Amino acid sequence: MKASARLEIGDTICELPMIEGTEHERGIDISALRSTTGCITVDEGYANTGSCISRITFIDGEKGILRYRGIDIEELAEKSHFIETAYLIIYGHLPNQAELARFSELLTQNQCLHELMKYHFEGFPATAHPMAMLSSMINASSCFYPGLMGRRNAARFDVQAARLISQVRTIAAFSYRKSRGLPIIYPKRSYNYTTNFLHMMFSEPYEDYQPEPEAVRALDLIFLLHADHEQNCSTSTVRMVASSQANLFACAAAGVCALWGPLHGGANQAVIEMLEEIHRAGDDGSAFIAAAKDKTSGKRLMGFGHRVYKSYDPRARIIRRACDELLARRHVSDPLLDIAKRLEEAALHDPYFMEHKLYPNVDFYSGIIMRTLGMPVDMFPVIFAIGRTPGWIANVKEIMDDPKARIYRPRQIYMGPPKSPYVPLEQRQ
Ligand code: CMC
Repeated sequence: MKASARLEIGDTICELPMIEGTEHERGIDISALRSTTGCITVDEGYANTGSCISRITFIDGEKGILRYRGIDIEELAEKSHFIETAYLIIYGHLPNQAELARFSELLTQNQCLHELMKYHFEGFPATAHPMAMLSSMINASSCFYPGLMGRRNAARFDVQAARLISQVRTIAAFSYRKSRGLPIIYPKRSYNYTTNFLHMMFSEPYEDYQPEPEAVRALDLIFLLHADHEQNCSTSTVRMVASSQANLFACAAAGVCALWGPLHGGANQAVIEMLEEIHRAGDDGSAFIAAAKDKTSGKRLMGFGHRVYKSYDPRARIIRRACDELLARRHVSDPLLDIAKRLEEAALHDPYFMEHKLYPNVDFYSGIIMRTLGMPVDMFPVIFAIGRTPGWIANVKEIMDDPKARIYRPRQIYMGPPKSPYVPLEQRQ
């Protein structure tokens, strides 16, 4: 017999079916609640709301487990690469050789922007944040592909998905070059995805950037570790937009906007700014930790805490190790890494952080890697967005492939003024 939950509202008893996931996480299906009881549930911030049933990513926040399509993130980080993982996330299985070759070829064929897109970049001021350019340009790019408009076209999905993954990276690099007044560098056919990004960022018309294997590997790892994270703020936004049957590029542009904030993907930029502030102040970290615990200070320890993880974020552990390896291989030290490690050590032994179960998240160490690779700090959330694109696409696909998909339309409890008459202007106080 299937388990159910009983809810008593006055004289009405409502039996609510239970739903159990692959890893035995349990939910109460309230989809018939309003029609049977007239009530809705309220859960501001959605902390207890399962907004969908998904087959893409699994997280156990208590144990610090993250899996894409059933495969542990640690194993993917060690054995896979971003493009193979992107395929896994989108299509649900690891690609065979032919599938991977076809996917890579589609990415290459679709990596150049329409030439007219260059003129759109001209309109931005030099001070424009690259995340603003990225979301605008993803949307602008959709205008050049009439196949994206109108009814969803499953047959063209592969091309559209590859175009989006490839062009997000090209737009990101062009945004950086334009914001610095540098000439645009076109992608090369012979380079793989991540090398091409570094090439478009750092080559000059008169001199090619020489890709170093450790730089390519470190950046590829960052992309891979960001590739999906179930129903986070930006992915939920993407699903919300996709549920209205908006096109793939519109969904991704909305995702970039949601990602930008410092509580989400903008945290990697905020972490480095925080570490720089601590460094400048000559603080050993203790003054900042004290401020982060003081609710009136307006400060938080950026790169710490997570809605789902109540233990160490497994991505943070991998990135911390990669950070140490990259700096050691380059024989460089970064005072910000030392400060970050001191902050982590102090926070992990501090009763406030222990009681609140606050641990380093993915953004705590990733900025140190990006800095070491020469990425400017305002590009950090952009790099997060490039990595997250396959996850957004997989979530849109899940909605597209679901014959029972409905528009996302939550309800609310209205607490505004009761019915009141319109007061003519001359009678108003
Ligand atoms: N520093 C100090 N206190 C914190 C922090 C922090 N980083 N994070 C949470 N808290 C406290 C918060 O003040 C609250 O305390 P109390 O219960 O005493 O009022 C408690 O912990 C719960 O916080 P919350 O804001 O209700 O938790 P949330 O699940 O709504 O927010 C979060 C999660 C990630 C937004 C939050 O932990 C945070 O602001 N962290 C810093 C920003 C950050 O690193 N964001 C990146 C998240 S991971 C990657 C991603 O998703 O993009």
